[in-house]
Amino acid sequence: LIQPVLLSGGVGSRLWPVSRERYPKQLQIIHGDRSLIQDTALRVAEAARYAQPLIICNEDHRFIIAEQFRDINIPPAGIILEPVGRNTTPAAAIAALVASDADPDAILLLLPADHAILDQPAFQAAVANAHHLAAQGYLVTFGIKPQYPETGYGYIRRGAPIPGTDNAFHVAAFTEKPDLPRAEAFIAGGDHYWNSGMFMMPARVLIEELRRYSPETLTAVREALDLAKRDSDFLRLDATAFAKAPNLSIDYAVMEKTDKAAMVSADIGWTDVGTWSALWDISAKDDNGNASVGTVLHVDAKNTYVRCEDGRVAAIVGVDDVILVTTDDAVLLVHRDRAQDVKHVVDALKRDK
Ligand code: GDD
Ligand code: MG
Repeated sequence: LIQPVLLSGGVGSRLWPVSRERYPKQLQIIHGDRSLIQDTALRVAEAARYAQPLIICNEDHRFIIAEQFRDINIPPAGIILEPVGRNTTPAAAIAALVASDADPDAILLLLPADHAILDQPAFQAAVANAHHLAAQGYLVTFGIKPQYPETGYGYIRRGAPIPGTDNAFHVAAFTEKPDLPRAEAFIAGGDHYWNSGMFMMPARVLIEELRRYSPETLTAVREALDLAKRDSDFLRLDATAFAKAPNLSIDYAVMEKTDKAAMVSADIGWTDVGTWSALWDISAKDDNGNASVGTVLHVDAKNTYVRCEDGRVAAIVGVDDVILVTTDDAVLLVHRDRAQDVKHVVDALKRDK
């Protein structure tokens, strides 16, 4: 069985005002009928293939997460609580240690809890392909054909095909979050893929690579687990020990350095729904390209995204390419091309607090 690990630590600041620190985007219904973390769990729920999921999250979110998993009838294998966010390296290290303590041959499927994947059969096929490689000791990435020079993603340079598999390649180089000129060169060159942020590998191999490239993470996390306290369904990591782990993403800590990386190319309708504009991309639209949530009237408006869920009626007249989002306590109006910059609002609000 594959051990799914759901990473739920992000804040989703570009989806303000819906995504909030206390209630970040992975716990919200952003697209479809369920929250992003519920969709993620349901994607890997088939008992014949997948073990029950391990969830690694911030302790502030424990009750919301427990309730959302009760709602979809998926009992987690464990909900492990981080006292502070230290990015994905410690979270991945926890998963590797917990899984390999239970089964030394465990194979992990690390999944961000805040992505949308539109083509489920293609996703299952990509996982099957990756499983095959992970069983041979590879750290497998899922590569996405890039569409534009996004600087917020990791880039994978495709190496030689791996014999005996389809759509599987060695990773010639991994570059996390390049600057714009480099991202543009990667796109122009044609042999780079976006890193989707999902990974599959034997827990044992991840532990070996962490020992080589970030031993302080492994030491801190081992201690945090040894001193952890059970608290009903939750496992509470020791705060003092965990705080000693460096704040580092798995992309920088391991994926840029390891020589054991492989990539399966994954045409799965992937999006990390990072911005309102990304959400507009995948939403159902009327003939004028307008996507709406709630009751919205359009007069001479094109290519807009309007979300107004509080029972009020929204009307939009004579403007194109805007995003309008309202909640009980906030209103956001932003041009579709500037959706990345919503994070500056959150920065400013934090400064003023
Ligand atoms: N448990 C836990 N603790 N989870 C975390 C933490 C943490 O401290 N920090 C982040 N996460 C979770 C996030 O909630 C998300 O689901 C996932 O780990 C990835 O973290 P992000 O912060 O969203 O990473 P990113 O988007 O900047 O970059 C990653 O994803 C890109 C694709 O969306 C990288 O893997 C890039 O290479 C990749 O292209
Ligand atoms: Mg992300």
